[in-house]
Amino acid sequence: MQHFQQHYGPWALVTGAAQGLGEAFARALARRGLRLLLVDLQTEPLEALAAELRQQGVEVEAHTVDLADNAAVQELLAAVGQKEIGLLVANAAYSVVSPFLEQSVENHDRHIDVNVRSSMHLVHALGGAMVQRGRGGVILLSSASAGQGSPLLASYASSKAWLQVFAESLHLEWKARGVDVMALLPGATDTPAFRDSGAMPRRVQGMTVMPPEPVVEEGLKALGTHPFWIAGRSNRWSSGFLHRVFGRRFAMRVYGNAVRRLYGVEEKT
Ligand SMILES: NC(=O)c1ccc[n+]([C@@H]2O[C@H](COP(=O)([O-])OP(=O)(O)OC[C@H]3O[C@@H](n4cnc5c(N)ncnc54)[C@H](OP(=O)(O)O)[C@@H]3O)[C@@H](O)[C@H]2O)c1
Repeated sequence: MQHFQQHYGPWALVTGAAQGLGEAFARALARRGLRLLLVDLQTEPLEALAAELRQQGVEVEAHTVDLADNAAVQELLAAVGQKEIGLLVANAAYSVVSPFLEQSVENHDRHIDVNVRSSMHLVHALGGAMVQRGRGGVILLSSASAGQGSPLLASYASSKAWLQVFAESLHLEWKARGVDVMALLPGATDTPAFRDSGAMPRRVQGMTVMPPEPVVEEGLKALGTHPFWIAGRSNRWSSGFLHRVFGRRFAMRVYGNAVRRLYGVEEKT
């Protein structure tokens, strides 16, 4: 724990921290002794989490920010000021499960604004100081959907592929300079977003729905040694099996059909 604090402290900035995986990250980082700068669209649950953690003696700042708004991201960065952010968890995401043409172009823009652009701006603004200090970490929340194209998830899955390659690239640039960058790829995880997405709640066609806490613990354990980490043994196994044994085109078909089944859409490729 002391090593974690020394390498990734004193402050961690977590986006999308009010619920789901972001909340689990906030709690896990508080347990590891970091001070927290928590960001979300949802003021009430964010403030409630901040108040609960403060009661436990954790130093917490909570900021309601819409990360789709670039001016708001810049205001957030100004509010961060001189705080030494040793760990960035870019976790917030926009995600709509629906055929490409059934979504407006503004909807597709929002996937890029929240998932891609805000993450890149935060990494650019905070990563320089980490590299100068020669220590720190960045976790970018990608997804198992990043590994191949998928129906119903065109903009979402593409944004997650961007995040994975971005993390891998910075892992190669910054590893020797003491800063650990990693993409975390959860499979189906039991969060409000997953429950609200219309997906079936339990095991579906080989997909196991994980609770958020083990996803986060695996991610924090893998940080520093892996450029990307697929959460969950069965997710790692099925991804490795599909891609290594059968290749990407087969993976597209299998994953695509699984997504369709998960959301009750019958058409097959
Ligand atoms: N759950 C899964 O099965 C799963 C699988 C693979 C990858 N992931 C990734 O894991 C991360 C966390 O997912 P989750 O399931 O925990 O999501 P979640 O339950 O929706 O929690 C994410 C939080 O981020 C907030 N947020 C969304 N857009 C924002 C914005 N523009 N500005 C500020 N905050 C914003 C959400 O607010 P609102 O509720 O108002 O949107 C929500 O409070 C995401 O990057 C997601 O893509 C999740």
